[in-house]
Amino acid sequence: MNYKSVRGMEDILPGDTRIWRWLEDAARKTFEFYGYEEIRTPILEETPIFSRSIGETSDIVKKEMYTFKDKKGRPLSLRPEGTAPIVRAYIEHGLHKISPELKLYYIGPMFRSERPQKGRSRQFHQIGVEVFGARPSFDAELIAELEGMLKTFGLTDFTVKINTLGCEKDKSEFSEKLKKYLELKKNRLCEDCKDRIKRNVLRVLDCKKESCMGVVREAPDILDSLCPQCKDDFDKLKNNLEALKIGFKESRNLVRGLDYYTGTVFEVTHPLLGSQDAIGAGGRYDKLVKDFGGPDIPAIGYALGIERLLIALRKETPPYQGAVIYIATLGDKAKIKCVQITEKIKKELLGRVIVLTDPRGASLKSQMRSADKNNAKLVLILGENELEKGKIVIRDMATKEQAEIGIDNVADEIGRRIILESEKLKAKSEKL
Ligand code: HAM
Repeated sequence: MNYKSVRGMEDILPGDTRIWRWLEDAARKTFEFYGYEEIRTPILEETPIFSRSIGETSDIVKKEMYTFKDKKGRPLSLRPEGTAPIVRAYIEHGLHKISPELKLYYIGPMFRSERPQKGRSRQFHQIGVEVFGARPSFDAELIAELEGMLKTFGLTDFTVKINTLGCEKDKSEFSEKLKKYLELKKNRLCEDCKDRIKRNVLRVLDCKKESCMGVVREAPDILDSLCPQCKDDFDKLKNNLEALKIGFKESRNLVRGLDYYTGTVFEVTHPLLGSQDAIGAGGRYDKLVKDFGGPDIPAIGYALGIERLLIALRKETPPYQGAVIYIATLGDKAKIKCVQITEKIKKELLGRVIVLTDPRGASLKSQMRSADKNNAKLVLILGENELEKGKIVIRDMATKEQAEIGIDNVADEIGRRIILESEKLKAKSEKL
């Protein structure tokens, strides 16, 4: 019998796990810097948690959830996203009583039964945040944090798109207006959009079919349906983003596929991702805590898709995970010295470099091949000759330059070269 993983659910294999951990660690450090606390909720929830928040008529709830009944006949679903479970936990544990504002982050798998393709899987992973008690004046700050984190990952070529859906009243008045307009143009819409007029009218605005886009171009504009408060909030968001020098595009068609949003919505896209180009997205959900039976507390959050982030990062430049240093040895004595050198490097450069050595007793040529395969930045070569002189050869694999240095200076020399490298990278990202 040949077993395979479930379609659309992928193994993360050695080699890749290192990059995943690097990304997750960088995210955790950033969140903790901004005062976020981690929250972990179960992967299974009662189905209404999702149907009542994301919306009965949304694609996620209608078509994409993994739902089944437990032994007592209660419907349970694998979580398709993190926001609704966190709102559930926030109310269930009275977290609002601890502090009027609360910044939470999460990292973990989500499940949607969509047709798998590049950048779209059935088990995927999100890094996300939810900020409870946040007023619209915080929205630009949240987007700035997100932008800063993407830059920390080394990503540069992304676009932040923003829109507003207005408050609940604006959103429902606009939906009615849009429905009336679309009913008149129904014959030009695709079959899906004809259906969306009744069940999820805003989604017509982000249909990618040419004929629907034509109809949408002349559709009513949400900005004309905003109340003075929502208009002011949206203007302030744009002014604040400008003041923070965060590039953004207004996108009137950005409506999001989850019903709980009101007010600010945003999305980050990447041009090298193809059709699944959203690295992440989020927005305000000011009524969800109250709808779930909690106090009237506004909130905003976002989630990034880790798989898409990694595709984008690999397409731009490989993420910096710590330079690989390969120590090639010849002879038993050199091997012993190599263990001592490794310990010294560990003491001084733990977390900044990865040290690989040869476990097979292979020839120098074969060790150099391994170094190459493992993308070593530097190779240290230690044979009997060098040992006698108290020296070691250090070879830069990119420039092919070699030098002999004192064995005792190895960690310092590696450190110096790594710092130079990271300064070059830093200078590059500051220019961008
Ligand atoms: P979402 O737009 O449904 O929002 O998902 C956020 C991100 O998760 C997407 O931009 C994408 O990168 C990734 N993603 C979604 N579906 C898939 C998939 N099938 N395969 C791979 N990646 C995927 C939410 O989930 C909201 N809970 C975000 C949020 C948090 N809003 C407020 N707070």
